[in-house]
Amino acid sequence: MTLAQHERLERACAELTPPFACVDLDAFDANAADLVRRAAGTPLRLASKSVRCRALQRRVLDGPPGFRGTLALTLPEALWLADHGFDDLVVGYPTADRPALARLVGEGAPVTLMVDAVQQLDLIAAAGATAVAPVRVCIELDAGLRLFGGRVRIGAKRSPLHDPDALAAFAAEVLRRPELRLVGVMAYESQIAGVGDAPRARPVGGALIRAMQAASARELRARRAAAVARVLELAGSLEFVNAGGTGSIERSASEPAVTEVAAGSGLLAPALFDRYRGFAPTPAAFFAIPVVRRPGPGVATALGGGYVASGPPARDRLPEPVYPPGLRLDPREGAGEAQTPLLGPAADALRVGDRVWMRHAKAGELGERFSSLFLVSGERIVEEVATYRGEGCCFL
Ligand SMILES: Cc1ncc(COP(=O)(O)O)c(C=O)c1O
Repeated sequence: MTLAQHERLERACAELTPPFACVDLDAFDANAADLVRRAAGTPLRLASKSVRCRALQRRVLDGPPGFRGTLALTLPEALWLADHGFDDLVVGYPTADRPALARLVGEGAPVTLMVDAVQQLDLIAAAGATAVAPVRVCIELDAGLRLFGGRVRIGAKRSPLHDPDALAAFAAEVLRRPELRLVGVMAYESQIAGVGDAPRARPVGGALIRAMQAASARELRARRAAAVARVLELAGSLEFVNAGGTGSIERSASEPAVTEVAAGSGLLAPALFDRYRGFAPTPAAFFAIPVVRRPGPGVATALGGGYVASGPPARDRLPEPVYPPGLRLDPREGAGEAQTPLLGPAADALRVGDRVWMRHAKAGELGERFSSLFLVSGERIVEEVATYRGEGCCFL
């Protein structure tokens, strides 16, 4: 958060009572344009879990060209988005939600399911899918890096289908089932897209991450091309081959086998996305919490603030105080459910009733903590929009 951005947001939000969350639309729009620039002509599919606010998702999809379609988090979310006029929805994770599958089959919503196992196909059949209106499916290839004959695996534990033969065999199984329509292949390289290659104060760690990512990208490029070619031989055609995320856009988009790249986090640019060398989005999402007590010199305690991000428990999952500058979390208390002590010389200047600006470590999870987001343009709040939570939706 630069001083200029902070002063702008302070002026815009002066009348609001913290806690509240806001999105700097100037930064958000600039980030969207930068994601599109990085994709260099490859369409981006909006990862909705990294936004969780319908109004902002519409803004991106209806904005300047570059984004097309949504990568949803759950089937109920995708059905809800379809009810609200969103189309081209791909659920990025397999589902075992029988009532939602029955709804999908009954309604014929514009939703594609992610599959990587026969049991998931059986659930779709059991939900009543028929050849008359086949359910659209995308098969997922494991994009992880395997070393030492598979004894070491790097990357999110997602699909069991790792080599082209395994993906092709599964594609053949899908094609044998008339109630399914195979429309896509997805492979998400989390170890590249979601791991910052410039971790703070860890130059050696950063060098190792970059070496791992370069090796993984090289290996995946060839394997993904071979796997997609095998599926195309069987299926004849595919509507899309999805890859990557905010942290891997250039690499994923450069592969000839890839037709679209998923992205979401780079729009709001949470703290974890400060740690990449190849791009520098502008922080766009903030929350403010009120100082409510001063336990002593060098410490100001604010109400709430304990919005810890998901993932492996570590310091980088904690929210970050960004304004006034010179504040840090107390290592013994962290960010608390009821209160968050803020330490440092800047604390002495804070008084009860002042506000402290914070950033979440991740993007969409902020929306689970606030029912609305105040959208700021220039020095004005232009709109207050509901998050998924604010619309009464708690998908995950
Ligand atoms: C399948 C898939 N694609 C892409 C992404 C990347 O999204 P983002 O751009 O928000 O990092 C994710 C995030 O976890 C994902 O699960």
